[in-house]
Amino acid sequence: MKTYLVTGGAGFIGSNFIHYMLKKYNNIKIINLDKLTYAGNLENLREIQNNPNYIFVQADICDKEEVENIFKKFNIDYVINFAAESHVDRSIREPEVFVKTNVLGTVNLLNIAKTYWETEKGFKEGKKYIQISTDEVYGSLGETGFFKETTPIDSHSPYSSSKASADLMVKAYYDTYKMPINITRCSNNYGPYQFPEKLIPLIINNCLNKNSLPVYGDGLNIRDWLFVEDHCKAIDMVINSGRLGEVYNIGGHNERTNINIVKTVISYIHDNVDSSVTEALIKYVEDRKGHDRRYGIDPTKIKKELGWQPETKFEGGIVKTIQWYLENKQWMQNVTSGEYQKYYEKMYLKHK
Ligand code: NAD
Ligand code: DAU
Repeated sequence: MKTYLVTGGAGFIGSNFIHYMLKKYNNIKIINLDKLTYAGNLENLREIQNNPNYIFVQADICDKEEVENIFKKFNIDYVINFAAESHVDRSIREPEVFVKTNVLGTVNLLNIAKTYWETEKGFKEGKKYIQISTDEVYGSLGETGFFKETTPIDSHSPYSSSKASADLMVKAYYDTYKMPINITRCSNNYGPYQFPEKLIPLIINNCLNKNSLPVYGDGLNIRDWLFVEDHCKAIDMVINSGRLGEVYNIGGHNERTNINIVKTVISYIHDNVDSSVTEALIKYVEDRKGHDRRYGIDPTKIKKELGWQPETKFEGGIVKTIQWYLENKQWMQNVTSGEYQKYYEKMYLKHK
């Protein structure tokens, strides 16, 4: 029985990953370590909270004692580090916590895993540390070309620079100590349980409440969207078969402008939920500082080496996603009460 330490498992991708893994395997144990910041939500895991193969620990990845306790208590085989401050706009306002969690937290996990996994003869068999990174570490593309694993790191925002720093520390543990690691760099995810500070759930929520739909700049920035379950499948493949020390890019060649995403959501809600929701709600607002223009992943390596393919086409995935938010209005109501209101007002009031 393999034991996975999943950090940040109460967030968007981490919780989807835990659901995916517990559905796929009945012979694994998952320890979910999460600080439960504003982005962490145990409601995301309600269906599996009593699963005997699942244990939740509320802790900070920067906390040496708490992380050590987990390694003392359980024979951890894999660390999958999702835990992060993940929102670019927040990093522009408050960069420090991004360095703390994303860089120092990663180093703390690496150090403790190394202590427990390293022997005089090298690292124990079957252990691996997986860093869940992002395509944003590569910076911004022009109109052509794609990010490859060999594309130089050229991060711009405090968020992406903190993720890039963490990646370099993970690489250092491989290069220096031969610690078994992989780094994955995925494009923008969408799907259930995403916190509505991110574009797609924010637009869905605002459409349903008939609030204006803030589009940064000219709306022509491009992101490469992947359904979250396809990301989870890729991570599972990297854990099992990724070559040690390697980076794997994950993306499905699904590039869209932001305005196209916004209009797609409006159109579905207009046709299926409320015909009074129209493009009149769109509001072009001040651009994000240092806004990366285009992201686009070249997924050739993970396809060739591990046989990964995305299964969900965007047209189906976005409908599935909108329907999930429609069926889980209480979830949305819970996450948008309290702190969220303050954040939203701070971010968007000036645009109203
Ligand atoms: P999220 O913000 O939804 O979730 C982050 C989780 O980490 C939350 O549960 C939060 O409570 C937890 N956390 C934050 N600080 C912590 C700390 N100090 N100790 C322990 N737990 C802490 O993020 P997400 O969108 O699910 O992203 C997960 C990971 O995937 C991140 O590392 C992010 O950089 C990466 N990523 C995200 C995307 C995307 O499109 N969302 C794409 C590529 C990579
Ligand atoms: O590319 C992977 C990254 O994708 C992850 O590493 C990050 O954790 C994740 O947050 C995401 O970053 P983005 O900045 O691309 O995602 P976000 O949803 O914040 O924004 C998507 C695009 O939409 C971006 O160009 C900014 C724009 N936008 C966003 C918001 C919230 C708007 O136009 N209006 C908005 O209100």
